[in-house]
Amino acid sequence: MHSRILGTGSHLPDKVLTNADLEKIVDTSDQWIRERTGIEERRIVADGESTVDLAESAARNALGAADIEPGDIDLIIVATTTPDRVFPSTACLLQQRLDIHGCPAFDVQAVCTGFIYATSVADSMIRSGAARTALVVGAECMSRIVDWSDRGTCVLFGDGAGAVVLGASDEPGLLSTRLHADGAYEKLLYVPYGVSSRPEKVRDGEAYLQMRGNEVFRVAVNTLGRIVDETLDDAGLHKSDIDWLIPHQANIRIINATARKLGMSLDRVVVTVDKHGNTSAASVPMALDAAVRDGRIQRGELLLMEAFGGGFTWGSVLARY
Ligand code: ACO
Repeated sequence: MHSRILGTGSHLPDKVLTNADLEKIVDTSDQWIRERTGIEERRIVADGESTVDLAESAARNALGAADIEPGDIDLIIVATTTPDRVFPSTACLLQQRLDIHGCPAFDVQAVCTGFIYATSVADSMIRSGAARTALVVGAECMSRIVDWSDRGTCVLFGDGAGAVVLGASDEPGLLSTRLHADGAYEKLLYVPYGVSSRPEKVRDGEAYLQMRGNEVFRVAVNTLGRIVDETLDDAGLHKSDIDWLIPHQANIRIINATARKLGMSLDRVVVTVDKHGNTSAASVPMALDAAVRDGRIQRGELLLMEAFGGGFTWGSVLARY
């Protein structure tokens, strides 16, 4: 038994925040942001809008594309760093929205690699026979954990959600999934406080995402190069076999470095960071959906998805679409 991608979907909040808008909030410039990151604009949730709202729209789009009824879903996994609540999980909130009852539903927390982790878990459960049709979602409201007075981080992130429906198949769809983490890098990228470690009084800015950007950058470039080789070795394939690279959208310079390492021309790399910014766990499924919907990705093509994020976590999914 294998799993394959039956359909994809995504959803972006309406509000666009451009680099020009950010120039009014912090000491930055459109030129700096474009040159260092490739980002032109990002979407931001409205007051009252939350991660499960984005997840629900993306999930419904993916179900429609797969021509699957919600009642046929027997596993829901949501990858998110920004859940609506401590509990129930965002996956359970989504399950209720979709009027699905009884199947397992849980969240996965691997920051920007969350969707890769969630897809790998769903693939394992389908291959073991524990599920037949899985809804896998990456959904984030990163704007809620960003310090809007810190120009080093607030220009980088955005909100959104992407989803895939994975179904059991006799033909191999997902060919290899690789997952890694190394908690030794905690202090390069983190949010200092959560639920159990929150002091009575948190100083300004301390409740928000902290990042040592250029150190993260160096490790990300090296690590993503290695995961590409590892994934191809695992599947017995070559760099030249890959039709599309669908990378985590953190920074155009990291994406370009990974594409160079693969010897891929940039027109075979799906780039959404210019319009989405870094949407953490939502970035890979949103990029996948964008390229499926505009007709670039065709059935039968070989896709390499990869991501790197807080933890550090990193991983890849190699799939025949
Ligand atoms: N506007 C203008 N200037 C800025 C801004 C800004 N928004 N931000 C920082 N600067 C300044 C700095 O203060 C510094 O000034 P100085 O030289 O006077 O001290 C200068 O620009 C250079 O700063 P660096 O941090 O060295 O810039 P760098 O080229 O490394 O780019 C960036 C920063 C874009 C953050 C880059 O390091 C990066 O993309 N890092 C990786 C991010 C990433 O991949 N994260 C992983 C996933 S995120 C997750 O898991 C949640």
